[in-house]
Amino acid sequence: MTLPPKPVARAPRVSLWRHLRLFRADILSAQPARLYRAWMAEFRTPFFRSVLINDPALLRRVLNERPRDFPKSDRIGAGLRPLLGDSVFLTNGATWERQRRIIDPAFEGGKLRDSFAEMHAAGAAAAARLAPLADGRPVEIEEQASHAAADVIFRTLFSIPIEHETAQATYREFHAHQRSQPLLNLAAFVKGPRWMPRLHSRATRRTARRIRGLIAGLVAARAEAIAAGEAPRDLATKIMTTPDPETGERFSPDEMVDQVAIFFLAGHETSAATLGWTLYLLATHPQIQKRAAQEAAAFSGEFAGLSKLKLIRDCTREALRLYPPVPMMVRETTRPERFRDRDLRRGTQVVLSPWHLHRHERFWDDPDGFDPDRWGRADTKDSARRAFLPFSAGPRVCPGAGFAMAEAAVLLAALLARYRFEPVVGDVPVPVAHLTVRSKAGIRLRVMARD
Ligand code: HEM
Repeated sequence: MTLPPKPVARAPRVSLWRHLRLFRADILSAQPARLYRAWMAEFRTPFFRSVLINDPALLRRVLNERPRDFPKSDRIGAGLRPLLGDSVFLTNGATWERQRRIIDPAFEGGKLRDSFAEMHAAGAAAAARLAPLADGRPVEIEEQASHAAADVIFRTLFSIPIEHETAQATYREFHAHQRSQPLLNLAAFVKGPRWMPRLHSRATRRTARRIRGLIAGLVAARAEAIAAGEAPRDLATKIMTTPDPETGERFSPDEMVDQVAIFFLAGHETSAATLGWTLYLLATHPQIQKRAAQEAAAFSGEFAGLSKLKLIRDCTREALRLYPPVPMMVRETTRPERFRDRDLRRGTQVVLSPWHLHRHERFWDDPDGFDPDRWGRADTKDSARRAFLPFSAGPRVCPGAGFAMAEAAVLLAALLARYRFEPVVGDVPVPVAHLTVRSKAGIRLRVMARD
């Protein structure tokens, strides 16, 4: 059985300078191996103090019991602010609460059915795009996954496929934006000197402006269609026509641009990463792939059939466990706190790390192995409840969690029903944390049509 790739941990003791250099290169390999065993770890540097918590009681305190006392820090958002403005991902307090009251209804359970047909169409389109490449040559899978996930988000949000001119342009600019922002990880996880967040390059600001301009065009056109009573019933229409139940106010066009920007970013990067890693894991575990393909072949293609894609869902969960697209989240203390036996002062960074929790030796058997069948075993229930946070938890939980799980199942079913995926010998992806956990140099797989 092939063990899925895992970054090599750093030496237990390194200098601050070395630590910062490692951080800049990749936050995953900048961490010592003891974090896969510890309940909590503290880091002190001249610039910042932070604790990483793996203790379920502390995670519950921060995420579920007293989330208002542990807001997102302004510094975290600084790297993303030019693109995301005041989007729900970055705000805190009353503004955030109001935004969630308007957004959440669009993603509630029953509404998933409305997005299903568009997800299904995107799955068929993704399978068709692979057809000319399915002759056994190495195919860049992250690229295909990214294309498919962007297609899903454009179709479900604005009822336009990725081939649409504005969708194409936005997609291209998003990629340029990511390339222009290599400092994100460092700025996001190190509460550094004050100048750090202002290091947006001119290219970052320029691509952010272009993306926001394109989105503003889509939002304005949609506002007109809503006014004329001609708007499709997609996510954009739902969000733009939902009043805040407390004030009766809707999002202004500017606020809607902020929210759409985060839906594109959160919805497409994360789902693409999940799809890419799941396909890689299946390619390296052919027996499991065979069973998943049988399940895919039996899929009715209807919404009601989704719940039958059990193994495919468990493969997705395993990919989310081993390669959580959001590897770490950061909060800040707003008053003195006592965590286990340590006193924390106000302003301490609290790091929650799905990456370490999901591979924690105290919670998981064979923590680094790919074993989708573990999700059917009773002993996984407890680990899943205490140490599985791919979508976070509590009031700030990802609103797109149900959407993302359905999307992953639909896309995987579409691809596995038609194709077989095989690894390229010697070409093992190296996980690194960019905006999401990606492979350092892409993921290449051989794709073959199934008989
Ligand atoms: C596999 C796919 C996905 C994963 C793993 C994921 C994960 C997460 C996580 C961990 C957070 C919390 C971040 C934090 O607190 O710092 C989050 C927040 C968020 N996600 Fe997702 N997400 C996924 C897909 C989506 C999709 C498809 C959408 C929308 C279409 C979406 C929209 C959002 C939004 C708006 C937030 C901010 C919520 C808030 O702060 O109140 N996500 N996501």
